Amino acid sequence: MCELELTNKKNKYPMKPIFVFTLICSAFLVYSFSIYLQPVASAKSELPGEGKMVWQKYNCQSCHQLFGLGGYLGPDLTNTYSEAGKGAVFIKAMIEVGTKQMPSFKMDETEMRALLAFLEAMDQTGKSDPRSFTIHANGMISQ
Ligand code: HEC
Repeated sequence: MCELELTNKKNKYPMKPIFVFTLICSAFLVYSFSIYLQPVASAKSELPGEGKMVWQKYNCQSCHQLFGLGGYLGPDLTNTYSEAGKGAVFIKAMIEVGTKQMPSFKMDETEMRALLAFLEAMDQTGKSDPRSFTIHANGMISQ
């Protein structure tokens, strides 16, 4: 009786568990290694990424928003780069000179270039102001 049970148990697993375990482990290793070997998708330039660090270093976010998120003392800067009459020169001047409400920032040329590249890249990701959208009678939205 006892022997019969043992033989039945043996037949229940045609593949040895250790074989399955080894197979799964090797599949995992092969897959992980193939992912590890894949080239990392990198941005065209590192500059906007560096500019984000400058943005954080000088805490622009405490007074300004990007896509509506941030402090509300100053205006949203998502699209300032492409706004008519503004752009890189205007932004640079604002940062260097400041106003009564905004402090001026003393940053070096490298930081300034990176920050402008960040704001340019930000501008290209979309429009932040929802008031520029029109809702039509049929429910469609256009810009
Ligand atoms: C203490 C709050 C504060 C901080 C910090 C601050 N700003 Fe400002 N910023 C303002 C205010 C307030 C205005 C509006 C100024 C005005 O109209 O007089 C402004 C205006 C601007 C403008 C002009 C926007 C427009 O559309 O007219 C730019 C560009 C700008 N800031 C960039 C920056 C950048 C870049 C940083 C970080 C290096 C920064 N600001 C940090 C408060 C701040």
